[in-house]
Amino acid sequence: MTPIEIPHVDRDAVVRQDLRSVLHPIVPPKQLEEQQLVIVAGHDSTVIDADGREYLDAMSGLWCVNIGYGRVELAEVAAEQMRALAYFPHTAINLPAARLADRLNALLGGGHHVYFVNSGSEANEAGFKLARQYAKQEFPGQFRYKLITRYLSYHGTTLGALAAGGMGDRKVKFEPLGGNDFVHVAPAYCYRCPFGLTYPACELACAKNIEATILGEGPETVAGVLVEPIMSGVGVAVPPDEYLPAVAEICRKYGLLLHVDEVINGFGRTGKMFAHQHYGVEPDILALAKGISSAYLPIGATVITDRVFQSFYGDPAANRHVAQVNTYGGHPAAAAVALRNIEIILEERLADRAAESGGYLLDGLQTLRRHPCVGDVRGKGLLAAVELVMDRQTKEPIPAPQMQSLADFCLARGVIVGRARSGAGGGSTIVLAPPLVITRPEIDRIVAVLDEAIAAMGRSLG
Ligand SMILES: Cc1ncc(COP(=O)(O)O)c(C=O)c1O
Repeated sequence: MTPIEIPHVDRDAVVRQDLRSVLHPIVPPKQLEEQQLVIVAGHDSTVIDADGREYLDAMSGLWCVNIGYGRVELAEVAAEQMRALAYFPHTAINLPAARLADRLNALLGGGHHVYFVNSGSEANEAGFKLARQYAKQEFPGQFRYKLITRYLSYHGTTLGALAAGGMGDRKVKFEPLGGNDFVHVAPAYCYRCPFGLTYPACELACAKNIEATILGEGPETVAGVLVEPIMSGVGVAVPPDEYLPAVAEICRKYGLLLHVDEVINGFGRTGKMFAHQHYGVEPDILALAKGISSAYLPIGATVITDRVFQSFYGDPAANRHVAQVNTYGGHPAAAAVALRNIEIILEERLADRAAESGGYLLDGLQTLRRHPCVGDVRGKGLLAAVELVMDRQTKEPIPAPQMQSLADFCLARGVIVGRARSGAGGGSTIVLAPPLVITRPEIDRIVAVLDEAIAAMGRSLG
């Protein structure tokens, strides 16, 4: 276990300050008044609250602390870079960002350029804008601007990324969200197949739906197709192996850009450095964040192939260069930290470890099927889910309050699990994305606590 200094915190004073002044994301203020988790430290897969209580974080924060907590050397990397140069706009060249881009490019097999941003939402937004600019420059007579995206997907919180996503309940309070820029199709969510079909007899109806939609919209109006290889937010919907290659082939057929969102899937999470590498496809646009720095500092990236880059390259008078800017993109300290984070992932073979540990986790989760309310168990690498149902026949989701109680039950036993919300058109699912350094005894503990929690929920449902 990494030695860690636990700061002394006056818990009550922090809670008072917070409740008086902070507006938190997504959590109802009244819930926070009742359940205040004040996290002050972390090491490996464990976080520690202000009372010294330890929790096994089976969610890596928000699916992001891939190398685990407490890597003090990253603080040193950031400090060293800040001492030399804390900031300069990325309109100039800086050393850490150049090195990081070059490392990402190499990991992707070369032939790419990297545009830096600060979050996953921005990585997708930049991708949308690069695709539009590319289409304007490459197809001057046409008006290719639409992006085909999937229902139940999540691609970020900014208005464009939110509109691209397909979770109605996350969008409804902000609608209308623009015009027909994002055209939604059925997701590859096999347990709840939107066509009521079963793989492989379905013959990938969901991929065919993409082609039908492109033809319906008119290919000359479409710029690209956006997919997260394994849809995390809806509850880790792992597609059939042929799905992503089929989508890539449709993009190729109609000259569309394939925009792959690996904000969660990337950086070893699914058992390979990038999830699309499982499926042998090459994205034209790749959105990265979270695991790029394991959240030690905020940074995201939008990677384009050189074929796309060529559109942005030319005589300055031709006005083809990237027509957007953001203040912090290519931040030297964030880039230095991200680079060291990636080196750690490679040195410690954390992608391979995710594949091995993920197999072990999935085996453990499969044993939960003995509970009648477990409808499905699925995952790839250390991205896993247990979908819970009222009835295996009808697949009726578990109501949200019971799902909340289940997550609270786990928390009370010192294990943090995630839950994909019911009511989004999806199911009621426990999601797991622990740090890639998680150990087998820790995995056993997650499974044991879930076992107890599901049994307790089963009893409460009668
Ligand atoms: C697949 C996916 N894309 C994009 C985002 C947005 O990332 P961020 O919250 O860093 O803006 C998320 C966030 O969870 C995500 O799950």
